[in-house]
Amino acid sequence: MLWIPGIDEIPLSILNVGDGQVSVAVKAVGDATRHLHTMQHGDLVGVRGPFGNNFTESRGRVLLVGGGTGTAPLLFLARRLATKADKLSFIIGAKTRDELLFLKDLDSVCSEESILGTTEDGSFGIQCLATEPLEDMLDKQNFNMIYTCGPEQMMRKVFDLAEKRRIPMEASLERLMRCGIGLCGSCVIGKYRVCRDGPVFNLSQLHEIKSEFGYSKLGFDGDVIPI
Ligand SMILES: Cc1cc2nc3c(=O)[nH]c(=O)nc-3n(C[C@H](O)[C@H](O)[C@H](O)COP(=O)(O)OP(=O)(O)OC[C@H]3O[C@@H](n4cnc5c(N)ncnc54)[C@H](O)[C@@H]3O)c2cc1C
Ligand code: FES
Repeated sequence: MLWIPGIDEIPLSILNVGDGQVSVAVKAVGDATRHLHTMQHGDLVGVRGPFGNNFTESRGRVLLVGGGTGTAPLLFLARRLATKADKLSFIIGAKTRDELLFLKDLDSVCSEESILGTTEDGSFGIQCLATEPLEDMLDKQNFNMIYTCGPEQMMRKVFDLAEKRRIPMEASLERLMRCGIGLCGSCVIGKYRVCRDGPVFNLSQLHEIKSEFGYSKLGFDGDVIPI
């Protein structure tokens, strides 16, 4: 949880750690994130956490499917899996090439032929949603684990395909977060609190929250709103 004094406190994923530093990648969408983009070296922020769980580290043949800033935690994971997994494949998708984050960083973790880039406007890679080449890949190759993070409708599609084929998977979910420690209930999905029980959920947990996952979430005033 990153506190921007006088503005808000927001949940962010860790992009990398090392040399006594933690880095995050932030997309400017509202007050807090826009303000972060204007901050300078030496400005004050506050940090609570880390909270919640993390992706489990699987061996074998691993597929990562990332969309937008959701690629950040997957890159962190891919770095950790690089020496453990038998094979890493990555589908990375965004609206445009400019939003296709971390392509260069991925090159140092996966072989070039294992990275498939997609953009909605066709400015890089295949012009489609990240989930479009996925079905074909799952038909042709065997994977022991799929990890995904990004827009929830994308993760829902990954879930549907993985569940049909009974491939283990984990997805990192986003919900509105206030306390970050399981008290306020703003991040509830089904019987889970995303801040405390997640943000990473496995296939059987996603099955339990199937009626909400990809469809609805709690808004700022506690109302259920469509995704
Ligand atoms: C577990 C977790 C990890 C996250 N990791 C990252 C990360 O690594 N990098 C990153 O950039 N963001 C991440 N987010 C999303 C980030 O927390 C939100 O974008 C941020 O809280 C928005 O705050 P704001 O004050 O700028 O926008 P707000 O003023 O709160 O909202 C402004 C507008 O942005 C929209 N918005 C709000 N939340 C989101 C959201 N989650 N996704 C897209 N649009 C949103 C709202 O609908 C609204 O229209 C994460 C969220 C969660 C729950
Ligand atoms: S953010 Fe308060 S319960 Fe999860």
